[in-house]
Amino acid sequence: KRLILVGPPGSGKGTQSPIIKDEYCLCHLATGDMLRAAVAAKTPLGIKAKEAMEKGELVSDDLVVGIIDEAMKKPSCQKGFILDGFPRTVVQAQKLDEMLEKKGTKVDKVLNFAIDDSILEERITGRWIHPSSGRSYHTKFAPPKVPGVDDITGEPLIQRKDDTAEVLKSRLEAFHKQTEPVIDYYSKKGLVANLHAENPPKEVTDEVQKVLS
Ligand code: AP5
Ligand code: ZN
Ligand code: ZN
Repeated sequence: KRLILVGPPGSGKGTQSPIIKDEYCLCHLATGDMLRAAVAAKTPLGIKAKEAMEKGELVSDDLVVGIIDEAMKKPSCQKGFILDGFPRTVVQAQKLDEMLEKKGTKVDKVLNFAIDDSILEERITGRWIHPSSGRSYHTKFAPPKVPGVDDITGEPLIQRKDDTAEVLKSRLEAFHKQTEPVIDYYSKKGLVANLHAENPPKEVTDEVQKVLS
C-alpha cells in the first residue's frame, strides 16, 4: 500500500508507523526523523534545516522534496510506503503526485490523525525518543521498561529540542495554516480516512487496521 499519515504534532503518527510497517512490510519514511538525523550529523542539509526546526516552522519545500525524492528510490519503497510527516504543504503534495505519476502509481490512502489541539501539549512534553530508530515513549502513556532507556537497544532516550510548550505553539500554527489544506487536497480526491487520534494507542491501531483491510 501507498500511505500518507497526516496530523498535528503529537497526534500519534510516529507511534502507529512501525506497527503499520510491520504489518504491511512497507518502507517507512519520516521526514522529521530524516531531518533530525541530518541536523545531528551536521550535513549541509542539516545545517540548512536546523533553525526552522528549532523554531517549529516548516523547512523549505525544496529541501524536503529533495530528501523524499532520494529516499523513495530505495528498493524497499517500490512496492509500497508510509510517508509520516510528508507532504505538509500543498506544493509538497503536488510534487509527490508528479513523482508517483512518473512511476505510474498513486497514493492509496491518507490517514488523518484528527485530534483536538488541547490534548497535544501533555503528549509532546512527556515524550522521550530513541534517536537512531525514531521509537517514541511517553512518561505517562507509554513508559519504557526502564526510565530513560530504549526497550529494544538499551540505549539512552532523549527529548526533542522542539518538544516544549512554547515551540509547540508555532508547530500547531504551521499545521493549521500550511498542512490542513493538504487534507482538503486529498479529501477532494476521496482518499482521506479520519481517525479518532485522541483514543488510546491500541484503539487507534485497531481503527487503522479496519481502514486498511
Ligand atoms: P516531525 O518530526 O514530523 O514532527 P511533528 O509532525 O510535529 O509530529 P511529531 O513527531 O511531534 O508527532 P507524532 O504524530 O509522530 O507523535 P508521536 O507518535 O511521537 O517534524 C519535526 C519538524 O521537522 C517540523 O516542525 C519541521 O520543521 C520539519 N519537517 C518535517 N517534515 C517536514 C515537511 N514535510 N516539510 C517541512 N518541514 C518538515 O506521539 C507523541 C507522544 O504521544 C509520544 O510520547 C507517544 O508515546 C504519545 N502517544 C502517541 N499516541 C498516543 C495515544 N493514542 N494516546 C496517548 N499517548 C500517545
Ligand atoms: Zn513523529
Ligand atoms: Zn485548524
